[in-house]
Amino acid sequence: MIVVQNLSKLYRIGNVDVCAAKNINLRIEEGEFVIIFGDSGSGKSTLIHLLGLLDKPTFGNVIIDGKNTSKLDESLKSKIRLGKMGFVFQEYNILPELTVLENVMLPALMTDTSKKEIIKRAKEIIRYIGLEKRANHLPAELSGGERQRVSIARALINNPKMIFADEPTANLDSRNSDNVINLFKYLNQELKITIFLVTHNPKYLKYATKIFLLKDGTIARTYNTKGTRKSESLNILEEYINKAVKKGISTVTLREHLIKNKWPKEIVERAISKHAKNSGA
Ligand SMILES: Nc1ncnc2c1ncn2[C@@H]1O[C@H](COP(=O)(O)OP(=O)(O)O)[C@@H](O)[C@H]1O
Ligand SMILES: [Mg+2]
Repeated sequence: MIVVQNLSKLYRIGNVDVCAAKNINLRIEEGEFVIIFGDSGSGKSTLIHLLGLLDKPTFGNVIIDGKNTSKLDESLKSKIRLGKMGFVFQEYNILPELTVLENVMLPALMTDTSKKEIIKRAKEIIRYIGLEKRANHLPAELSGGERQRVSIARALINNPKMIFADEPTANLDSRNSDNVINLFKYLNQELKITIFLVTHNPKYLKYATKIFLLKDGTIARTYNTKGTRKSESLNILEEYINKAVKKGISTVTLREHLIKNKWPKEIVERAISKHAKNSGA
């Protein structure tokens, strides 16, 4: 379980403080599927980095399984990361000079597990994610979707309780995106791994048990969506878009803004035309 108390992150640029996380409070139970969404610059990556102990908060606490991590030194935090957490990033972050198998083994080499055991487990995971024919290939020989699956396999090597994924499908086409997100769904349902996913695609909101909408470093809204049907998930996004339209922003400006912020075009168009219909325009 993760409990976050009064979490803030300030970045100092010259004489100016940028507040990338502002007094965030939340609580995530084991086995949840959390989706974080919001415009670019709203603080999604900052929050994921703080929750995953990759970054230090300016104020506040991240309590993981009852342990307050704010007082721990780097080596203890890295031990928690290695033992409990897996990370997946937009750019895959796999090493080009290592094979698929070697990349997947990497985080386990920093633990006490024997090399023989690590190779066995890495092979199992590679088979599990359907890349066994690629085990001895270099990343350059793989498609983007396959590379991202390698990074997910690497995230799984130490049996994590939670996985943090920051826009993992941003560089993938829709078929590969579906594969990657379905893999997270599977890991959540079958292995009960807690998932923290940053995504802009409303298609995937139906998998979430909780959705956080970030705005200017704060949680503007929390949606508890356990058991939410697909249509309801889409309504959440339409409601968000409708609110912006109602604030008097022109639909042309809004459309441009939303698409620039990676909102899927078809959803934006649908919400805007729905709003136009409702307001009798
Ligand atoms: N290392 C940094 N130094 C200074 N400002 C930063 C740094 N990282 C993020 N920021 C600022 O914090 C805010 C939130 O950034 P980020 O968490 O990356 O947002 P998102 O992931 O939602 O796009 C932005 O205004 C960004 O410019
Ligand atoms: Mg980001």
